[in-house]
Amino acid sequence: MTRFVTPENNKKAVFPVFPVPIYINRLTDDKEFNQDMVRKVEALRESDPEGVEICKKEYRTGYTSFFSRNQIQKDLEFAEIAEQVLRHGRCYAQTMGFSTEDPPLHLITMFGTINVKGCYHELHRHRNSLISGSYYVSANKTSSRISFLDPKAGFRMHEPGGHTGQTIFSNLEFSVRPQTGLIVLFPSYLEHWVEMQQNDIPRVAITFNMDLIRDEDC
Ligand SMILES: [Fe+2]
Repeated sequence: MTRFVTPENNKKAVFPVFPVPIYINRLTDDKEFNQDMVRKVEALRESDPEGVEICKKEYRTGYTSFFSRNQIQKDLEFAEIAEQVLRHGRCYAQTMGFSTEDPPLHLITMFGTINVKGCYHELHRHRNSLISGSYYVSANKTSSRISFLDPKAGFRMHEPGGHTGQTIFSNLEFSVRPQTGLIVLFPSYLEHWVEMQQNDIPRVAITFNMDLIRDEDC
């Protein structure tokens, strides 16, 4: 009988104390709805020659209405998806401890994105908002992943070898493969990037930023 506890038998002694919340959920599996959303994002591109021109310089082979029409939540065409995104956003915000009543959660920007072969998005974060995310209206198992960088990465000044495996305490990156109907939400401060799209099937998404602000400030 030893007077000391045996740490080898207590794998539950380590606690995740500063976790980063990433929300991954299904928004709808309604094929018709998602196909209609694809058509609406394509129509957005067709009606936005100015945005298409900007994207040639800023977004390589892809299209995003971020630069030209980033308030699509106010378009009647996107009202339904905007409301559904907000529903998920409220749940997510409440999980993080925010009240979403006063001030309420609002979409402050919303834009369509079409990633075609060769398109990618470098490491960035979304400024001036609380929650960011994407709803994938068309994606498949080869669509490019969105990847998140550990916000502690810049502080990790000592990385000795000998890791026996990746754990939630050692992972530097976390990736999500988009699927049609999937919504992904993350804190706006979290740096992320989108890998290069490798196939010819467009990856179509509606991306957005949300914040807790008064109605009159929208
Ligand atoms: Fe982003």
